[in-house]
Amino acid sequence: MKSAITATARYLPERIFTNADMEKLVDTNDEWIRTRTGISERRFVVPGQATADMGTRVTQQLLERSGYSPEEIDVIIVATITPDLLFPSTAALIQNNLGAKNAWGFDLSGACTGFLFALETGAKLVESGKYSKVVVIGADTMSSILNFEDRNTCVLFGDGAGAVLLEPSLNQSGIIDAKLHLDGSGSKYLFMPAGGSLKPASAETVANKEHYVQQDGKAVFKVAAKGMADVSLEILERNNFNGSDVTLFIPHQANKRIIDITSKRCGFHEDQVVINIGKYGNTTAGTIPIGIDESVEKGKLRSGDLLLLAAFGAGYSWGSMLIRW
Ligand code: UT7
Repeated sequence: MKSAITATARYLPERIFTNADMEKLVDTNDEWIRTRTGISERRFVVPGQATADMGTRVTQQLLERSGYSPEEIDVIIVATITPDLLFPSTAALIQNNLGAKNAWGFDLSGACTGFLFALETGAKLVESGKYSKVVVIGADTMSSILNFEDRNTCVLFGDGAGAVLLEPSLNQSGIIDAKLHLDGSGSKYLFMPAGGSLKPASAETVANKEHYVQQDGKAVFKVAAKGMADVSLEILERNNFNGSDVTLFIPHQANKRIIDITSKRCGFHEDQVVINIGKYGNTTAGTIPIGIDESVEKGKLRSGDLLLLAAFGAGYSWGSMLIRW
């Protein structure tokens, strides 16, 4: 049995933060941000709004679009590194907000590759035959862990969420293959030092600004550009496809230059590639499902099309997935 995406949704907070707004906070400028990253603006939540709120909104959209009631959801998987609370899970908060009383679920920490890890997990639950309606959410409130005094990181990220509904496939559509990787030797290049069990929050960790994203951008750039292209080519080759078979490539949106390098190595022309980093920045687990929903809305994905997804992020974690739409 194959699993297929039968509904999609996205939510971007209303509050727009432009590069000009960033210039007021740190020593940066619009030209640097646009040419080095491709970002023009990003969205940030308002105080009191966080990941579960965005996750609830996208799941409500999925239910409206598919015509199902909350009680029909079997499982809720939330890919996020910015849960509302360390526990209970964001999935539990969303389940309660929706009244999805027959669902179980959990959060999955896979950073920028989180949505792909969650989609593979959800697909296997559906393919087991035991669960027929699995909601897979990618959502991050990156503004909650950004140091707005650090120009190396604060200009890069945004808040946002996307989601898909997975059900058993009734035709040829469905998830064809996934190739996923984890290499913890990269953990020191992109991480948040404190707030976990190793370094619980204290006055000292707060004073040292250790509750924020820290990144060695140059180190990550090199491995990300290579890793996304390698894994995309690998999954195409092992399924006997080449770049021209792909209708649409939706890569993780961390840096337009990384997307361009990956697309070039895979031989994609620009019509095949979804790039929306300019409007949203890097929403971490949100980028790929947001890209899928936008593509559906624009009519870029039709029945029978071949969709390639790819991501690279903290861990290091990376991977790609092939889907017949
Ligand atoms: O999604 C998770 C995975 N993450 C990624 O894939 C991110 C990968 N890395 C990147 O996207 C890029 O490395 C960055 C966008 C983070 C940085 O771009 P870069 O071209 O690698 O710049 P750099 O870090 O080498 O910095 C170049 C210069 C430095 O100045 P000096 O030392 O040459 O004088 C930085 O201090 O740019 C400076 N700089 C800035 N200038 C203005 C760094 N950030 C800024 C800024 N505004 N915001």
